Amino acid sequence: MSERVCPWWLGYVLAAPMRKLAQNPSRILSPYIKQGDTVLDAGSAMGFFSLPMAHLVGETGHVVSVDLQEKMIRGLKKRAVKVGVEKRMETRVCTARSLCIDDLAEKIDFALAFAVVHEVPDPARFLNEVHSSLRKSGLFLLSEPTGHVTTELFNGTLAVARDIGFHVVSFPVIRRSHSALLAKP
Ligand SMILES: C[S@@+](CC[C@H](N)C(=O)[O-])C[C@H]1O[C@@H](n2cnc3c(N)ncnc32)[C@H](O)[C@@H]1O
Repeated sequence: MSERVCPWWLGYVLAAPMRKLAQNPSRILSPYIKQGDTVLDAGSAMGFFSLPMAHLVGETGHVVSVDLQEKMIRGLKKRAVKVGVEKRMETRVCTARSLCIDDLAEKIDFALAFAVVHEVPDPARFLNEVHSSLRKSGLFLLSEPTGHVTTELFNGTLAVARDIGFHVVSFPVIRRSHSALLAKP
């Protein structure tokens, strides 16, 4: 595993309820997700965002959670069963070079990559895969931690996203993060 990838045991810390005080997942995501949506959590870890996403899409919706680390996905599956949303969730273990979501082309209404892109070896490829997965007018919330990512680096990632074809809709304010809401025109 590359040094820049967060260790699997940090998954428990990332999923701790305390984190909601700074980053409340339902409040962050509810403007973009509606009942019945199909959504993607790319780099989900143990599901701090995936589980609230499952509540927001409701019984008729679908959440696809993808992570590089099998142990993260194992933790997420257990947590999904505990809160009774496992039937509307699909989990995938991907590779460092690909999210393995080619089959989802133009199926995703909303995608999230929260604190992930700085760990990915090829951000352009990652962003391209997210772009391909989105339906026309689909939204993508890209968020990176201010503790690990400079404003310059985040702007560089945004420039890559624009080159791929995303346009910037807004810059949501999320504590301890650089964030941009992107759309596939
Ligand atoms: C800092 S954690 C953030 C997790 C989650 N999005 C959150 O905010 O709680 C980054 C996650 O991205 C995953 N990751 C790193 N590189 C990845 C890649 N190339 N493809 C998919 N997931 C990756 C890691 O395994 C880890 O679970």
